[in-house]
Parts: sequence; structure tokens; C-alpha cells
Amino acid sequence: MNRSQLRPFVTIIVTSFAFVALLHSSEVSAQPAGYNYDESKVPDFDLPELLKLLDGSAVKSDEDWTSKRRSEILSLFREHVFGNDPAGVPQLRTRERSRKQDALGGRAVRRQITVFFSDDDDGPSMDILIYTPTDAKTPVPCFMGLNFHGNHSVDPDPDIHLTTSWVRNDTKRGNIDHRATEKSRGQSSSRWPVEMIVSRGYGLATIYYGDVDPDFDDGFKNGIHSLLEPDTTERAGNAGGSISAWAWALSRGLDVLEMDPLVDGSKVSTFGHSRLGKTSLWAGASDERFAMVISNDSGCGGAALSRRRFGETVKRINTSFPHWFCINHRQYNENENASPVDHHMLMALIAPRPVYVASAEDDKWADPHGEMLSLYHAGPVFELLGRSGLPSNDVATVNKPIQTDVAYHIRTGKHDVTDFDWTQYMNFADLHLK
Ligand code: GCU
Repeated sequence: MNRSQLRPFVTIIVTSFAFVALLHSSEVSAQPAGYNYDESKVPDFDLPELLKLLDGSAVKSDEDWTSKRRSEILSLFREHVFGNDPAGVPQLRTRERSRKQDALGGRAVRRQITVFFSDDDDGPSMDILIYTPTDAKTPVPCFMGLNFHGNHSVDPDPDIHLTTSWVRNDTKRGNIDHRATEKSRGQSSSRWPVEMIVSRGYGLATIYYGDVDPDFDDGFKNGIHSLLEPDTTERAGNAGGSISAWAWALSRGLDVLEMDPLVDGSKVSTFGHSRLGKTSLWAGASDERFAMVISNDSGCGGAALSRRRFGETVKRINTSFPHWFCINHRQYNENENASPVDHHMLMALIAPRPVYVASAEDDKWADPHGEMLSLYHAGPVFELLGRSGLPSNDVATVNKPIQTDVAYHIRTGKHDVTDFDWTQYMNFADLHLK
């Protein structure tokens, strides 16, 4: 092979290497080439109607919504987007793994609770790390979210159990050969301002998503699938993907928090960033026990309207992450207008509960304006249920949160979770949960 013959070959290797690196990074803020980032090139489209039943009749009352249309839309999301929830919820067993009464310099009670999904201590399980304020006199409202790198990445505290589950390789953060090392402790602490959260009177519960379903395409053999779905040879088109499994885990976490004497189970908000923001929305949409729902930079498949094809597209997400959604979702690759749903309907499923959608200015891949628009277009359902939606569909002003019965902000900066974001979530929770 001469040099010029070699060049395309090398380019392919380098490109696929970069592609794999991109897929495996949760810090992605790049704008991959070949996608639309220009508002003037957003195609024209009609959104599926929120307030019309499948038989064509109009939804006129909150009763029509609650008893008919809501369940139609929920089924459509199960059939065409996320797939069915994992079947056969096992009997949960919990064990308190550790408790520290004076964590964070005395400000918090820190507990680690293992939730076993079977009778077997070595079978699938997940750990919940819970912080609650030490000085709380009554059970506290609590935020619960999945994390990307293990509970031990949330805070450097050496007593937090280092996950033994699969982790994404990342030498810089101390994840080697898919195992976490001591170096990985506290590496995500900037995204989890635990002291700030407890000092405002809230609890924080977090679970490592890799305990539930490791985030790679293995044909649904590991995590909870090994227990709940022993035969995956012929998966149905509407069998749930990983987002469905992760959302299911949030509901199991809520089962535990509902029994927790330190937490007010009727005031648990689900929170998530990026793919875990998509998960937070789906958990909140499918489990009405969540009192509030927060989506941080969730983008395509989360808050963003798919029909806009701005930044990441349905085809791209189904190709890069074939395990996240159900197989039926692939019908809408480059065919978004044929889908019976768009993501304003995901927001509507959360109504009348408060929902917060947050974007970042430099995170064009997630389509910030499209994230806001889906919340805006869910407005008629919030209004039908006696709440107000977003007042306007104008492009939002950066760093000027809008918080009524629903909330939106776009902040400066990249795809990330910052103290600014958390401050807004707590301000909004103060309005609705205190
Ligand atoms: C990729 C993916 C997004 C996702 C993000 C993340 O960028 O394309 O859909 O939200 O990863 O989860 O970090």
C-alpha cells in the first residue's frame, strides 16, 4: 500500500476513534459537523395535537385529559419511543450499608442503602446514596437523580462505597479497565453541590445508572435485564431500552424514599442531566408519584422537539446509542413527522406537576430553543389543569430564569450541571414543595 492508498484508511480509523471517544464521553459539548445549528434552516412542521383523542374527538375537560388522553399519550411513548417498562417488578430488599450522622462537617446525615432486586445478595442491586440535613425537624423534600460515574464520584468522602459495577473507561478520572479506582472519588462533585442542597433544607439521593443497566449495547444481557428478561433473543419492537430501565430504577428509588423517615416521599423531585435528563423526564412522565421533574440539558429524546432536527437528530441518536430507545423508535429516523408523538407531549404527561427544563447556551447539540419550545407547546395541558404554561415562545434571555408553574432557563456555558442550575432548581422547589 502506498501513502495515498493508506490515507483514507488512516482517516477512517482516526474518524471512528474520534467517534467512539465522542460516544463515550458524558462531557460532550461539541457540535458534530453535518447537523443543523441554524434556526433559519429548521423545517416547517405540525406538532401532533395534544387535546385531540385518537378517535378524533376533542379533549374538553381535565377529566377527559386525566382519564383518556393522558393514558393514550403514555402508551404512544411506550410503543414508539422508550418502550415498555421492565416487567415483573421484583420484591425489593434493602440494607443500610452505612450511616454517618455528621457528614459534611456535621451538616448532613449520609446513608448508603443497597437495594437488592432478588433474594441473591450477589444478584443485581443498586446503591442509593442519601444526604439529608442534620438539623431537619421533619422529613425533607428531596432531589433524586442518577449519576454517570458511581456514587463515589459525587463527593470525595472515602467512606462512600466505590462502585464495583462497570464504568466507562476514563483514565483522567481514574476509571481503568471498566473499574473505578480510588482516584475517581469526587470527580463529579461540581455537578452535585451537596452542601448547598442540604443547607437549603433539601435532601439529595443519587444512584449510579451503571448499577442498573451498564451504558453500552450488549443486547440487554446485563444489569436488571439479566434478572427480569433472561431471554433477549427476540426482543419486541416495543421492549424497553436502557432509558426505560434507568427510569424504572428511579421509581424503585422512590419506593425506598417513600418509606424513609428522613425524607418526605410526597415531595421527591427527579433530576437528571443529558441522557439522564431524558431519563428524568420519562421517569416523571410515567410515575406520577414524582412531585417535580427536572431536565438539565436533555436534548434529543428528552426535552427537545424531534421535528426541529436541530443539532442531534433521531437517526443519529438511534445509531449512536441503539440501546437507549425501543426498536420501534428507529422508524422515525429521518422520518420525524411520521411519529404520533413529539416531546411537548412528554412535558404534558408531567402536568399539572411542576417541570423545569434547563439549557446551556453553548450546548447547541441539545437544541436549547427546541427544549424550551416543547415546554411552551405543552402549555394548553397545564392550562386545562389549572396551571400556567410558559408565557412566550420567544427565544429566552440567557441567565434570566422564568419560573411560574413550569420553569425554563438557558444559562451561559456548556453542556454541564452548574451551581447556577442547582440554585434555580431549589428556588423553583421552594415555590412548589415547601
Ligand atoms: C451524547 C448524546 C446526547 C446525550 C449526551 C450525554 O452527546 O448525543 O443525546 O444527551 O451524550 O448524555 O452526555
